[in-house]
Amino acid sequence: MKNVRTNGQRKRVFIRTYGCQMNVYDSDRMADVLRPLGYALSEDPEHADLVVLNTCHIREKASEKVYSELGRLRDLKIERRRAGGDLAIAVAGCVAQAEGEEIIRRQPAVDIVVGPQAYHRLPELLARVARKADERLFDGRRRPGAGVLDTEFPAESKFDHLPAPSEADVRAGSAFLSIQEGCDKFCTFCVVPYTRGAEYSRPATAVLQEARALAAAGAVEITLLGQNVNAYHGEGVDGSAWTLARLIRALAEIDGLVRLRYTTSHPRDMDDDLIAAHGCVPQLMPYLHLPVQSGSDRILEAMNRGHDRDHFRRLVDRLRAVSPDLALSSDFIVGFPGESDADFDDTMRLVDEIGFASAYTFKYSRRPGTPGAALGDQLSDGAKTARLGALQSLLGDQQRAFNESKVGTVVPVLFAEAGRKPGQVLGKSPWLQSVYVEGDADMIGSIVNVRLLAAYALSLSGEVVSKQPFGVAA
Ligand code: 5AD
Ligand code: SF4
Repeated sequence: MKNVRTNGQRKRVFIRTYGCQMNVYDSDRMADVLRPLGYALSEDPEHADLVVLNTCHIREKASEKVYSELGRLRDLKIERRRAGGDLAIAVAGCVAQAEGEEIIRRQPAVDIVVGPQAYHRLPELLARVARKADERLFDGRRRPGAGVLDTEFPAESKFDHLPAPSEADVRAGSAFLSIQEGCDKFCTFCVVPYTRGAEYSRPATAVLQEARALAAAGAVEITLLGQNVNAYHGEGVDGSAWTLARLIRALAEIDGLVRLRYTTSHPRDMDDDLIAAHGCVPQLMPYLHLPVQSGSDRILEAMNRGHDRDHFRRLVDRLRAVSPDLALSSDFIVGFPGESDADFDDTMRLVDEIGFASAYTFKYSRRPGTPGAALGDQLSDGAKTARLGALQSLLGDQQRAFNESKVGTVVPVLFAEAGRKPGQVLGKSPWLQSVYVEGDADMIGSIVNVRLLAAYALSLSGEVVSKQPFGVAA
């Protein structure tokens, strides 16, 4: 029988995911690794035998959240032990990688610390925890050395040790597929090169195999993931290094996959082939997340981004020449050390010139160990807040204008979940806009043509035109 302990009891794991889509993918894969050990997913830590926090280190706030959550889990563990049971606590992801042993020191109730490149070894780590169980004291405190740690960047790739994906990895017709990891660009604000390690691209054969398995498990949409996904250079089926564009063209041939997306990209890696793919691969959705971070040449240089504002502008012109309705999204950081009013004005001007369909905006967060943290002229939180507000207001207007430009058109929507109000379902347009309609839960997981009726700041509402699966806009 599936998901059953040898003594007949089910084991349950609760996985909480912080941060980016890469972590969502990793959490799903951890569930895949744990399933053969008898672990079923639980929606609630209260009912779990094992809790995994899959953490994010990108900004200070994200990291600090982990410790407050660990405090709550420690209390739960103490309660359990008093009642004669137990709770295993694992910290995975980028905080695990960055802080390692420090986590066990700050919170001794933690049993496992496992980095993003080592989680395929979770079964072994759980076995080590079980062997060490007798070393632990009753109240959740422990003798030094009782927690187990694996934050190596192993020579073997975790991808070669993960089980094939299944229905559990497809959510309402959509799935993530990690094709590239790590980063060698060393932007001066960013921890990723330290937490995720050097850039690595999976071989195309492995990616295609996983994509076929996802399609067979019901995926109609795949989002290719990587910290620098457009730097993809995996070994191709023919033995040569394939670009992302070459991989996308091969994926577009898989039956049933009607939507392809990729994230997140770097402006330096948008090659001619990839730009062309936006014009000629119908499965490639008209949406591109292309972080620019700043519109000031001086700040772009200080960030070590390796390009200037003009490079970004030219790229956008070329993309729009082949795909005029492309929805462009980006990331911005305000208040990088030394950012002057004039630098910030340059960012506002760039945003004004380009026109974005959506964006993520962040206050610069000083991350220990990055070159940016050592720079003088760190800005006050007040200055960052003011700039963030101005930028968000401009980008918010642009997002609403983009949403309004689609009102009255009929678009294919992939329905993902029930809406907030009863009788409502929520899906995504090709431009990744959230679209609400009145409809049944049986639409979830399928693509339905919708006439868009009204636009709001962050979403649109519409009505179902036809339930023709995989339909295209009328
Ligand atoms: N402070 C603020 N934002 C950051 N990002 C990365 N590092 C930092 C930092 N130290 C943002 C960037 C990146 C996104 C994933 O997070 O905009 O593109
Ligand atoms: Fe971080 Fe820059 Fe690498 Fe992106 S390109 S992951 S921002 S170092």
